[in-house]
Amino acid sequence: MNPIRVGLLGIGTVGGGTFEVLRRNQQEIRRRAGRGIEITAVCRRDQAAARAIVGDAARVVADPFDIVRDPSIDIVVELMGGTTLARELVLAAIGQGKHVVTANKALLAVHGTEIFAAAHDKGVVVAFEAAVAGGIPIIKSLREGLSANRIEWIAGIINGTTNFILSEMRDKGLDFDVVLKEAQRLGYAEADPTFDIEGVDAAHKVTIMSALAFGTPVQFGRAHIEGITRLQAADIRYAEQLGYRLKLLGITKRRDDLGGLELRVHPTLVPGKRLIANVEGAMNAVVVHGDAVGTTLHYGRGAGAEPTASAVIADLVDVTRLLTADPAHRVPHLAFRPDMLSDTPVLPIEDVVTAFYLRLQVADQAGVLARITGILAEHDISIDAVLQRESAEGEKQTDVIILTHDTVEGRMNEAIARMQALPTVLAPIVKIRKEELN
Ligand code: NDP
Ligand code: HSE
Repeated sequence: MNPIRVGLLGIGTVGGGTFEVLRRNQQEIRRRAGRGIEITAVCRRDQAAARAIVGDAARVVADPFDIVRDPSIDIVVELMGGTTLARELVLAAIGQGKHVVTANKALLAVHGTEIFAAAHDKGVVVAFEAAVAGGIPIIKSLREGLSANRIEWIAGIINGTTNFILSEMRDKGLDFDVVLKEAQRLGYAEADPTFDIEGVDAAHKVTIMSALAFGTPVQFGRAHIEGITRLQAADIRYAEQLGYRLKLLGITKRRDDLGGLELRVHPTLVPGKRLIANVEGAMNAVVVHGDAVGTTLHYGRGAGAEPTASAVIADLVDVTRLLTADPAHRVPHLAFRPDMLSDTPVLPIEDVVTAFYLRLQVADQAGVLARITGILAEHDISIDAVLQRESAEGEKQTDVIILTHDTVEGRMNEAIARMQALPTVLAPIVKIRKEELN
């Protein structure tokens, strides 16, 4: 049988890794897929750079539409990034009846509903394993391996860049900017690294997982997003002293009591004894809680050339196998049949229930702590632990750290506003959510 012919739109970090792994493992991959998979054309503005990667093995073009319209290409792999041209190209490839593989989570989180509908109408596949958690096969796990379960919640470290930054800052005491540059050099960061550090990339990924878990359309616009740029080294230290670790988590949770879903990304205190608290560097980990299976942990490299290529090529193998299957009986893009999606809304962040870490910079005077704990009690917020930094000789202020039990975010915000108004509270109160994940 002739090999499947693949065109790559973009041959940078992930495209280069895909070319290399496919070349290196071609015999094994052919035995798994039942057919050879050959990259016959690649696209990049810098054609000399593309030629340096592929040599004479593939045609190099500068116009991505040359690949999309090429009738000899069976599968288009979009590895350019962005949401404008990438959307046009993916829709055009679908329009040409081509299957698409993409690693572009931004594209799917923002335009996924339109793209999956177009693919469904045309009877083609849009595969996107690489879009969430790099080399971890979490899309396949959610869509297939866990399909017996009613998924209750998912929480994940799903951005390698920010996890790398938090680990390096904590372990080596390095500055944020230095570590970010290293993440860029290693190929982890997005073209626009603000997507990483402001939590947007993680929100793209948790949006996709939420749709797969709960059978809803993708709802990126409803996600609550906080990144790591406002985190201070002091909070990383205090969390450690209390037995917790600070991680940027993407969380989505079923909330049947409110008829909605939680969809959020924010720095989170996680108990130091949980496996996920010990996921370091650019590694990713996703915890999925299903009613039948309980809690499962999916761990691996979440970014970088070859780990991501591993997922891209797994999709190429899947699509190659599917080419002989009946389109109506393929695994649905978002796990649930397209005509059976639910319209469960995403809840506002004020309705979310979590525990909290609070850091208050206060005047070191009698009665200060009593007033603060009094306000929490008036809001029915129960305290789990309190830590007060010992003041240095002659110092007139100190830090008070409070861990609370679970409470509703709206109520916590009201209590914080009251505490903030106390003249003895000297700086904006730091609030970080805390999850037990058990
Ligand atoms: P890179 O910037 O390394 O590569 C992008 C490639 O696309 C380059 O070859 C670029 O080359 C080419 N390109 C961009 N625009 C055009 C254009 N208009 N015409 C022709 N070629 C173009 O990005 P990555 O490989 O890191 O990321 C690719 C995708 O994979 C993104 O969606 C990213 O979010 C996703 N991803 C990345 C991961 C990673 O670890 N890096 C992990 C998981 C997903 P040139 O500028 O020369 O045109
Ligand atoms: N910028 C992303 C990260 C790449 O750091 O996780 C993988 O999606």
